[in-house]
Amino acid sequence: MIGSTLLILVFVFVGPALADQPKYPVILVPGDGGCQFEARLNKTDSPHWYCSKQSDWFTLWLSTLELEVVDCLVDNMKLLYNNVSRVTFNTPGVEIRQPGFGNTSTVEWLDPVHPVFAGKLSYFYYLVEFLEKHLNYTRNVNIRGAPYDFRKAPNEMHAYIDQLVALIEETSSMNGGQKVVLVGHSMGCLYMLYMLNGQSQAWKDKFIRAMVTLGGPWGGSVKPLRLMASGDSLGQSTHIIKPLEVRPLQRSIPSTAFLMPYDTFWADDEILVYAPSANYTVKKYKEFFHDIEFPDGFLMRQDTENLVKRLDPPAVEVHCLYGVNVKTPGAFSYLDLPASCPWYDYQPHVIYEDGDGTVNLRSLVGCERWAKTQKQGVFMKNFTGAEHLEMLQRVDIQQYIKDVLSK
Ligand SMILES: *[C@@H]1O[C@H](CO)[C@@H](O)[C@H](O)[C@H]1NC(C)=O
Ligand SMILES: *[C@@H]1O[C@H](CO)[C@@H](O)[C@H](O)[C@H]1NC(C)=O
Ligand SMILES: *[C@@H]1O[C@H](CO)[C@@H](O)[C@H](O)[C@H]1NC(C)=O
Ligand SMILES: *[C@@H]1O[C@H](CO)[C@@H](O)[C@H](O)[C@H]1NC(C)=O
Ligand SMILES: *[C@@H]1O[C@H](CO)[C@@H](O)[C@H](O)[C@H]1NC(C)=O
Ligand SMILES: *[C@@H]1O[C@H](CO)[C@@H](O)[C@H](O)[C@H]1NC(C)=O
Repeated sequence: MIGSTLLILVFVFVGPALADQPKYPVILVPGDGGCQFEARLNKTDSPHWYCSKQSDWFTLWLSTLELEVVDCLVDNMKLLYNNVSRVTFNTPGVEIRQPGFGNTSTVEWLDPVHPVFAGKLSYFYYLVEFLEKHLNYTRNVNIRGAPYDFRKAPNEMHAYIDQLVALIEETSSMNGGQKVVLVGHSMGCLYMLYMLNGQSQAWKDKFIRAMVTLGGPWGGSVKPLRLMASGDSLGQSTHIIKPLEVRPLQRSIPSTAFLMPYDTFWADDEILVYAPSANYTVKKYKEFFHDIEFPDGFLMRQDTENLVKRLDPPAVEVHCLYGVNVKTPGAFSYLDLPASCPWYDYQPHVIYEDGDGTVNLRSLVGCERWAKTQKQGVFMKNFTGAEHLEMLQRVDIQQYIKDVLSK
């Protein structure tokens, strides 16, 4: 009797106050390209007279001004690779940092002067706004961001993984010991998986309520093969961003190799790249990199291939959300092109299949494998027409996340 009276009292006093507050704090983990970078220069060389050699900290990624001088951007942002020690480093005289760790602002907008291009260069902004509006979330208190150097794969990012773990613990503690919901997009999903695979079950049970994945490339994606071969204008017109000008950057960052298709999702006889002298499958990457005259790419693939390939279960509740019915590159054909340059200097003919425009459907549904390998729930949900990046603005997806956070 006394117990239930107490319970009622507690409910009356604590209940309404708690109802106003979010139940679970959220941590946002962005994908490839999904956070701001700042650079500071003290270089002795630059590719053009109009590229600065000296500077204070400025926004390198993403700034529309920088895209106008894409050669300068490429030279400052690309990585160099030591093919013996197998580590990457910046161009000499370039320092790079990702501002705002723990803060949402640098994962909400890619260009800090966002008002001019509202919508286009937004990233997690619309989701954060939605959660503030509908569930009383407060930025940097119970919704936080975990930006990182997305040029690299997790093998070179152990310091970041430790920081992410510490951020989860700190955020839980700042919010009365509540468990955290992780929300990742694209490559951020692979980073979350890698981080969780490294934690004990006791830690996960204590700190993680669920992991929500948006467009996770669980088995890689065909699109990076074009970045490696002939460059990719990032969805912009090839007149504005010339693929061959950005190719040195795209080749140089190990995340491109990390995101290539995995042989656990593509069969040995499926041709991914058709070229005049050879066809390439998941089993022919060594030949592919040799033939495009970028042999270090194969070493980068070896460095990154086994990080998450086995898809060991995260052993937390998973909500796997993904777009479908968007034309997605399934293979590239470099046949029937003029022969005045090597084939990989031309833009290919694209053979499409289903997916979200960037990630192939078979890869997006890779998380379904955990339904058999873990006891925690695995919930799959597809969204028709939800393109890989635009899905971050979809209200039906925001609504789904709201439901997860309200349970
Ligand atoms: C948000 O907070 C307001 C004011 O405290 C409260 O009236 C409202 O019920 C809360 N909404 C939710 C979804 O908790
Ligand atoms: C810039 O680099 C030069 C060497 O190239 C070095 O002597 C100088 O101290 C550096 N300046 C700053 C501000 O770091
Ligand atoms: C490393 O690169 C150099 C030149 O770029 C090349 O000559 C050498 O064979 C490469 N080493 C390995 C282990 O691939
Ligand atoms: C988050 O970033 C914004 C914009 O840069 C800044 O005004 C704010 O002080 C930062 N908040 C925290 C808690 O770091
Ligand atoms: C590539 O595959 C196509 C279709 O299977 C085939 O017709 C062609 O001969 C192959 N090309 C080479 C160079 O093996
Ligand atoms: C999308 O989800 C619906 C309903 O669960 C299912 O019937 C359909 O097969 C799914 N489509 C794809 C392409 O995964």
